[in-house]
Amino acid sequence: MSSDVSVVVRPASLDDIDVLLRIERECFEHPYDRSIFESILCASSCQVLLAELFGSAVGYIAFNKQGRVGTILSVAVLERFRRRGVGRYLMRQAISRLREAGVRRIVLQVSVKNVAARRLYESMGFRAEMLLRGYYRGEEDAILYSLHLPIH
Ligand SMILES: CC(C)(COP(=O)(O)OP(=O)(O)OC[C@H]1O[C@@H](n2cnc3c(N)ncnc32)[C@H](O)[C@@H]1OP(=O)(O)O)[C@@H](O)C(=O)NCCC(=O)NCCS
Repeated sequence: MSSDVSVVVRPASLDDIDVLLRIERECFEHPYDRSIFESILCASSCQVLLAELFGSAVGYIAFNKQGRVGTILSVAVLERFRRRGVGRYLMRQAISRLREAGVRRIVLQVSVKNVAARRLYESMGFRAEMLLRGYYRGEEDAILYSLHLPIH
């Protein structure tokens, strides 16, 4: 399906924590709690973007930058708004902001079982680099994905 042209992305602030928690709890079995969002939103190295459709929050992406390496910490879209291009749009926004900030490589970890997210990352050029055994709670394996950004 093509990108939903009505999606607007804006930086999230501490005022958005309740909205972020609602999305998080709907999208993840083991969601970030309030204190994690507070830390991310207060850290100068991190950014959180909210995706809104007709004024309603439908997803978010959190990422950080350490030197020339960026990390996608989390991306989530409410189930009823999936497969409309919102996840890809959020990823594009994060990649573009990290690139502008001088990042040359973006990494992320995702469960081997998370087919939707893996397809999304692969469709954007991320490549699987390493299997991380027991990465989630010592029980579930993850894959480290990486995207190299060419210098323009
Ligand atoms: C992963 C996630 C963010 C994708 O959001 P989305 O808005 O549905 O993604 P998009 O519509 O932009 O999809 C982009 C591409 O990803 C792939 N994709 C997305 N969902 C998929 C699915 N269920 N099965 C297979 N491929 C899928 C497809 O290649 C898709 O392109 P297409 O629709 O043209 O075929 C969403 O499924 C989600 O929130 N999942 C729960 C939270 C999560 O697991 N987050 C990632 C781990 S940190």
